[in-house]
Amino acid sequence: MNILDSLKWRYASKRMNGQRVPSDKVETILEAIRLAPSSMGLQPYSVLVIKDEELKKQIRPIAMNQAQIEESSHLLVFAAWDNVTPEHIEEFIQHTASVRNMPAEALADFKNSLLQMAAGRTQEQNFNWAARQAYIAFGTALVAAAAEHVDATPMEGFDAAVLDELLNLKEKGLRSVTLMPLGYRDADNDWLAKLPKVRRQKEKLFLEA
Ligand SMILES: Cc1cc2nc3c(=O)[nH]c(=O)nc-3n(C[C@H](O)[C@H](O)[C@H](O)COP(=O)(O)O)c2cc1C
Repeated sequence: MNILDSLKWRYASKRMNGQRVPSDKVETILEAIRLAPSSMGLQPYSVLVIKDEELKKQIRPIAMNQAQIEESSHLLVFAAWDNVTPEHIEEFIQHTASVRNMPAEALADFKNSLLQMAAGRTQEQNFNWAARQAYIAFGTALVAAAAEHVDATPMEGFDAAVLDELLNLKEKGLRSVTLMPLGYRDADNDWLAKLPKVRRQKEKLFLEA
């Protein structure tokens, strides 16, 4: 399938059939997430990969009782850093220096600009910036899942504070932002499966400037 066929095939499944997604396909989707771009390259988020049936069962009521949570094969939780700290920046600089085989000192100006950026914002502003970066990875995951013919439902319909508590995210310096059940559609029981996509008209979406 080409990219447009994959994007037409995908939809936000409301019901899944519990079938397992093969691990190579999951790994491809996770690698696409890892390869997603982010501002400054910092990737200020983590993605929790939940397979445990009991945990998914506990999460369902926190997510407006949406059936896909429990019927999915894997549940991804996109969680952004709750702040951007000097420790995060130091780790990123050391990692960049190591991957690119260069002295960390050569990245001093870059490091200072990152430190200034983070220090010039409140914790909440840093979190919101981190959450926007997480959304880029989230969108990338949706496209990767479609390319792999795996259903994926983008989800904001959940109580983040309660989920953070359940998953102990505060201790990890994270706050949940979005969810994405991965699995296979239950087309017979999903009211949305056969409805045409609604998208804004080209002339309204794209403005010639
Ligand atoms: C950020 C975001 C949050 C969403 N939250 C939910 C959700 O909690 N539950 C749900 O069933 N669909 C959710 N959706 C799905 C949208 O309603 C859906 O993507 C949109 O109507 C377009 O339809 P399609 O994805 O089926 O093509 C969400 C989508 C996005 C991008």
